[in-house]
Amino acid sequence: MSRPVIRLEEIGKTYSQGNQPIEVLRDISLQVEVGEFIALLGTSGSGKSTLMHILGLLDRCSTGRYLLAEQDVSQLPDERLSELRNRMIGFIFQSFYLIPYVSARENVMLPGLYSRTPGRILKTRAEELLALVGLADRMEFKPGQLSGGQQQRVAIARALVNDPQVLLADEPTGQLDSKTSGEILDLLTDINRQGRTVILVTHDQATANYAERKIFLDDGRIRND
Ligand SMILES: Nc1ncnc2c1ncn2[C@@H]1O[C@H](COP(=O)(O)OP(=O)(O)OP(=O)(O)O)[C@@H](O)[C@H]1O
Ligand SMILES: [Mg+2]
Repeated sequence: MSRPVIRLEEIGKTYSQGNQPIEVLRDISLQVEVGEFIALLGTSGSGKSTLMHILGLLDRCSTGRYLLAEQDVSQLPDERLSELRNRMIGFIFQSFYLIPYVSARENVMLPGLYSRTPGRILKTRAEELLALVGLADRMEFKPGQLSGGQQQRVAIARALVNDPQVLLADEPTGQLDSKTSGEILDLLTDINRQGRTVILVTHDQATANYAERKIFLDDGRIRND
């Protein structure tokens, strides 16, 4: 039985640059089932990050319809979007975006503060997640005291703290060496096997091979799925 978690219906995205409209995404229709592991590929400027931002409710499409867990989010007010994003989506970026002056544990706890999870439960959950990503012995370290791969593990633990259905990763291994990249991709594979939907942006074929479905973007359109 098919259970789409994400459904895009002919979405488009246009930015206005001065009085010049720039069409960055066009006619994108896409259905993603619960538990899929998808790689989104395409050359630089093809619209991958723009599409991820729309999928992650960080940005809105200009035309078309987006259904997230069967709810039409295209017209939701910003406040509802933020609440939905916090609850349903986890993000991992190429630059880890950790808060430098607090510990790994506090970084992981941060998105949970917005969802008003009680502090003690949140702390336990952060510790469990840090153990899951292999950082049980680094919980009180600050980001500057961790390697790049370890920082990305913290970011992955943080992305999971609100138990999101969907994990979006934009070039998560872009700053890492190939061995560390492999470890991070294995971790994302494990997370996917636990039933979470993972969408990974990359321009690297070897990275994309971790996914079971590949979608190619070309100049804002889906060229191949
Ligand atoms: N805020 C904006 N205003 C105007 N144009 C934008 C804006 N954001 C992105 N674009 C344009 O949209 C196009 C797609 O950008 P996007 O960042 O989605 O590409 P990408 O596929 O992620 O590329 P890369 O692999 O380099 O990260 C680019 O041509 C870019 O200039
Ligand atoms: Mg990008």
